[in-house]
Amino acid sequence: MNKGGVTKDGIRIYEPGDFAGMNKAGRLAAQILDDVADFVVPGATTEALDQFIQEQVELAGATSATIGYKGYQHASCISVNHVVCHGIPGPKVLKDGDILNIDVTVIVDGWFGDTSRMYVAGSLPRKAERLIQVTHDALMKGIEAARPGNTFGDIGHAIQVYAESNRMSVVRDFCGHGLGRVFHAPPNVLHYGRPGTGAVLEEGMFFTIEPMINLGRPETKVLADDWTAVTRDKSLSAQFEHSIGITAQGCEVFTLSPAGKFHPTYS
Ligand code: MF3
Ligand code: CO
Ligand code: CO
Repeated sequence: MNKGGVTKDGIRIYEPGDFAGMNKAGRLAAQILDDVADFVVPGATTEALDQFIQEQVELAGATSATIGYKGYQHASCISVNHVVCHGIPGPKVLKDGDILNIDVTVIVDGWFGDTSRMYVAGSLPRKAERLIQVTHDALMKGIEAARPGNTFGDIGHAIQVYAESNRMSVVRDFCGHGLGRVFHAPPNVLHYGRPGTGAVLEEGMFFTIEPMINLGRPETKVLADDWTAVTRDKSLSAQFEHSIGITAQGCEVFTLSPAGKFHPTYS
């Protein structure tokens, strides 16, 4: 039916044996995000965190997917406060109450593992705590909708309804993506949408879900460095990302935290 293992929408269908490779890559990315947590403290620079991440990738004998990707030169994206995504690690010093997303993608035996989560330097401000909780739970609503027979629109809708019912907004300018033996492949996984629209989910599809949720308006702009995306209204933004594979029953999350630290309060 899907000739050459690709759907009419250009979405690759992987084999049951391919899940193991994705698991290994996903687990390493998640492990690195677990291990960097101890270093996210006031006074740390984002480039020091990136340096640690790069070392961990090398120690594991893996490859960073982001170094050299479209000219990007770092092993992670680190997006602080009103930075929505693609923050470039640098000399910026974290201060008490800063919230940040760290996004890591590794390649293990040719398979890509892509995950990101939120951290806080020092004490977590009340408003940021709510944003982080809603963003985490919005991702989980999306994952719950990820099963054969549902559509990509069902995933986006679940995320959008949850975020907006909490009076927060979903970023439209960036989306999740297919991945597997490549970093970014069809489809674009939108974090908003209407039920029943978009491609139908099938066993063997591998993709990310990575909602970016803002406390204020959804609009973003990219800074002059051509990477850093920020909220136009300077409101706080949060993001969580998992890489998943559709199974017969539902989905398998490849990027589960080995230490159970995906959520910053470790719940
Ligand atoms: N990891 C990001 C994603 O979730 C992509 C980062 S590309 C980079 O798709 F070049 F900015 F690192
Ligand atoms: Co991604
Ligand atoms: Co990512």
